[in-house]
Amino acid sequence: MKKVQLASMVGGGALVLAVAGALWASPPAVAGPTITVYKSPTCGCCALWVKHLEESGFNVSVRDTEALQAIKAEHGVGNHLASCHTALVDGYVVEGHVPATDIRSMLESRPDIVGLAVPGMIVGTPGMEIAGQPAQAYQVFAFDPEGRTAIYANR
Ligand code: CU
Ligand code: CU
Repeated sequence: MKKVQLASMVGGGALVLAVAGALWASPPAVAGPTITVYKSPTCGCCALWVKHLEESGFNVSVRDTEALQAIKAEHGVGNHLASCHTALVDGYVVEGHVPATDIRSMLESRPDIVGLAVPGMIVGTPGMEIAGQPAQAYQVFAFDPEGRTAIYANR
């Protein structure tokens, strides 16, 4: 009986330490990963997608550029995948209006892909909500270095 009490006291002490550790560790966890977004300086829907990422907890580093074509080519984004902006996060490429939730699940499961893409400009994707226009169903594609695609999510 005495032994059990001692064990629970030790356990309680460890719990207090664990909670204190969690408090110290929480600021970076809340801040989330940093994503670098390459976009044209005049792109309105790009800015709205950046806002969507920030509201979802990403640190966003915006790089305004007119050289998007070169950036897409450099990161394996073929014309069939292309959209208005290209982003880099933790070793992956994100092309177009991909929802933050799909980026997060990719970063957690770390699949063997180049990245995710929502080609074109689809009404109802994050940053492409247009008042008075119904959201369209769309697919988020995973792509490999050869530009081959697989459906990652149906939205
Ligand atoms: Cu756009
Ligand atoms: Cu964009």
